Amino acid sequence: MAPPAQNGVSEQQVHANVQHYYGEVLAASTDMKTSACTAAGAPHPLVRAALQRVPPEVQARYFGCGSAFPLGIEGLRVLDLGCGSGRDCYVCAAMVGEAGSVTGVDMTDAQLELANRHAQDYCCHTLGYKQPNMRFVKGQIERLGEAGIQAGSVDLIISNCVVNLTPDKQAVLAEAYRVLAPGGEMYFSDMYCTRRVPEELRTNEVLWDEGLAGSLYTQDFLRICRQVGFLDPRQLASHPIQVHDPELRALVGPASYLSITYRLFKLPGTLEAGSEDYGQAARYLGTIPGSPHAYSLDSQHTFPTHKWVAVCGNTAAMLGDSWLGKHFEVAGDRSTHFGAFPAGSGSACTQQQPAGSCC
Ligand SMILES: C[S@@+](CC[C@H](N)C(=O)[O-])C[C@H]1O[C@@H](n2cnc3c(N)ncnc32)[C@H](O)[C@@H]1O
Repeated sequence: MAPPAQNGVSEQQVHANVQHYYGEVLAASTDMKTSACTAAGAPHPLVRAALQRVPPEVQARYFGCGSAFPLGIEGLRVLDLGCGSGRDCYVCAAMVGEAGSVTGVDMTDAQLELANRHAQDYCCHTLGYKQPNMRFVKGQIERLGEAGIQAGSVDLIISNCVVNLTPDKQAVLAEAYRVLAPGGEMYFSDMYCTRRVPEELRTNEVLWDEGLAGSLYTQDFLRICRQVGFLDPRQLASHPIQVHDPELRALVGPASYLSITYRLFKLPGTLEAGSEDYGQAARYLGTIPGSPHAYSLDSQHTFPTHKWVAVCGNTAAMLGDSWLGKHFEVAGDRSTHFGAFPAGSGSACTQQQPAGSCC
């Protein structure tokens, strides 16, 4: 039976339309009616080098809107939600190395068929691995259990321009939280709107397929994150997306769209709703490949190599208790609470930075 209608459209109907659009209508990135596929800035040189080795046929059917590649992911178990033709999985298969693994999930057969076509040759010849460390699975990202993805089995979730295409964002984020191991992270790029998309636009098929109807208002997205357990979402990068098509432009009116990369850490029992000061400090060891001089956790927190920086409790946990832990030294614990960090702020440590602090 079809799931109930949500926000004016049924999930089953949206899935069918999206499968048709990405499986049969679009042939290449250039067919899209927005600038989404070119919105992200230039990738890091290490990512650019990995991209150059991805088969051209896979690259041609890239429909992402960002750059969802954290550096330093050797050995991690990666899951790509809505992998499409698999471009980002191919890049991650190189970045995690032979000891890591990459699983791409998508619901569209044509995309999966292309993703699978070059997988063996790419892993075993281009990368020179003994056996492929990358696989593709058919499934819906709202129901990862049905696709065989077990609870706590993933270190890093990536996703590129997909969550906007589901009417049930809460289910996707709750599933992401469930399948991540403690200390794991969802690092992903997606389309967002600077205001709530009016109800009458949410039934327009092309607006849905292009991600314009389903893009969340950023503040609503942040609320859902907190509801499912990602208590302190961190924004990394943000780029405007232009709607090229005049008809669609007229329909969306004054709404503006952005491609944003967020980092959501799963640190159960550790992250707090507010930014608290326990007198902790963190020091980046300079060990992440491609980041010898500094590491940016998010748009507000950059850590120069070997420099101690005062951090709030949440930032200390993200750096010390997550997969990033081997690249940071964190001093102090939570035995003494010194109040809010910084004084008076109830949010993440991103404002009114005291000198020498992380924020
Ligand atoms: C805009 S494309 C992005 C594909 C890929 N991430 C990339 O960067 O090229 C969206 C993809 O998400 C898939 N998709 C959308 N909604 C999905 C869902 N609910 N479950 C699984 N896959 C979904 C589509 O089949 C399509 O391949």
